[in-house]
Order: sequence, then structure tokens, then C-alpha cells
Amino acid sequence: MTTETAPVITIDGPSGSGKGTISHAVAAALGWHYLDSGSLYRLLAFAAVRESIALNDESALVALADRLPVSCQLPEPGDAAILLNGVDIAGELRTEAAGAAASRIAVLPGVRAALLDWQQRCRQPPGLVADGRDMGTVVFPDADLKLFLTASPRVRAERRYKQLKNIGKKVDLESLVADVEARDQRDSSRSAAPLCAADDALVIDNSDLNEADTVAMVLEALHKKI
Ligand code: DC
Repeated sequence: MTTETAPVITIDGPSGSGKGTISHAVAAALGWHYLDSGSLYRLLAFAAVRESIALNDESALVALADRLPVSCQLPEPGDAAILLNGVDIAGELRTEAAGAAASRIAVLPGVRAALLDWQQRCRQPPGLVADGRDMGTVVFPDADLKLFLTASPRVRAERRYKQLKNIGKKVDLESLVADVEARDQRDSSRSAAPLCAADDALVIDNSDLNEADTVAMVLEALHKKI
């Protein structure tokens, strides 16, 4: 099987929709690779801040993307690591600051183009579950199955609230709701690859679904298609 013909499931949606957890669980259930495309945007933003590159300096960001020693490694199905200089910096990429910086560089068309090839190279046998905002619309328009996962802003903010409380962070729920709405607005109103469901995507609102039910729905949809 060539890279182009390896099957791919795209799972797009806003932050807090549970995409990461669901994509990971689906990849594990199928024994497929997993691409967390948000990490690429976070990684580039993180590296830019470290090199004092302004987050609106498109040409400097594109040049940085081209020379970053990043590899999308797919050592085992169900496993994926994005490494910078061979070091897994996943923890540092999950901070609110890295997410906000990623959201700023993600509006730049040149940056999106620079990251396209990296993402497409992750399509390898036996298959790929790709998680992001534009996986079904831009990166893998010929995906075997496209899903758009969403939940109400309040439910998404409550999920984030619980995560932050669990790691001992003091947060205000109402300001998290406002943050979620502001991020949605920025991600869906940008002109380059705005966040929206592909025409042929199955939209799942999981506000009232648990993880196991959502994974089961995704696997059922896949079995119906391939
Ligand atoms: O999913 P995430 O929170 O890790 O994404 C971080 C930011 O990157 C988010 O604000 C939107 C952007 N992003 C994007 O524009 N396209 C993607 N495929 C993935 C993420």
C-alpha cells in the first residue's frame, strides 16, 4: 500500500470537543497511526517564541518551519510523536500560552502551507487517524471517513475546567467559557482554512455522550463506509 492509498479518518472540531481523546482511542482500537495536527502549530509557535520571532512575521515563521528539525514519527501503529531536535516536548506544548500562540500563527496562509506536507506524510499504512481543524477540508480531502466533533461552548469549558482543577490550577469557569467562545470565533472566522465541517463530514455533537459512546459511534460509521 502506498502512502497516498493508506486509509485515513479525519476528526475535526473545536478545542474541548474531545477530538484528541476520541482520535487517540479510535487509532488505538484500529491499530492505526495518530496525527495530532494542533501539536504542529503549537510546536512551531513554541519554537518561534524561543527564537524571538514575532507571531505575525509570516515569512520568518515559514522559514522557521522549513528548517525545524521536526519529524512526524510513527514508530508503532497507534503511537505518534512529534519531536523537536529529537526531544519530545509534548508537556510544554499543552499549556494555554502555547495554544494561544498556535491560534495566532494558524491564521497565516504561508504557515498553513508550510505545515501541509508534514501532515500528509503521516498518512502511512495501516492507516491514519488525523485530528485537527482542517483535516477533512484541506489536508486529506479524499479521506475515507470524515467526522466533525463538537459540543456546546459551556460543556467544552467545563471539560477544560475539570482538567485544570485536576492539575491544581485555580480557574474561573465563566472566563473559560469566554475564552472558548473567543477561540472559536478566531478559528472559524479566519480566511485561511476556517474551522468548519467538510460538506461530506458526519457531525457528532457529543455534549451528552461519554467517551466510550462516541468512540463506538465513530467505529460504527467507519464499518459502514469501508
Ligand atoms: O487543537 P489544538 O488546541 O492543539 O490547536 C491549537 C491551535 O492550532 C488552535 O487554535 C487552532 C490551530 N489549528 C489549526 O488551525 N489547524 C489544525 N489542523 C490544528 C490546529
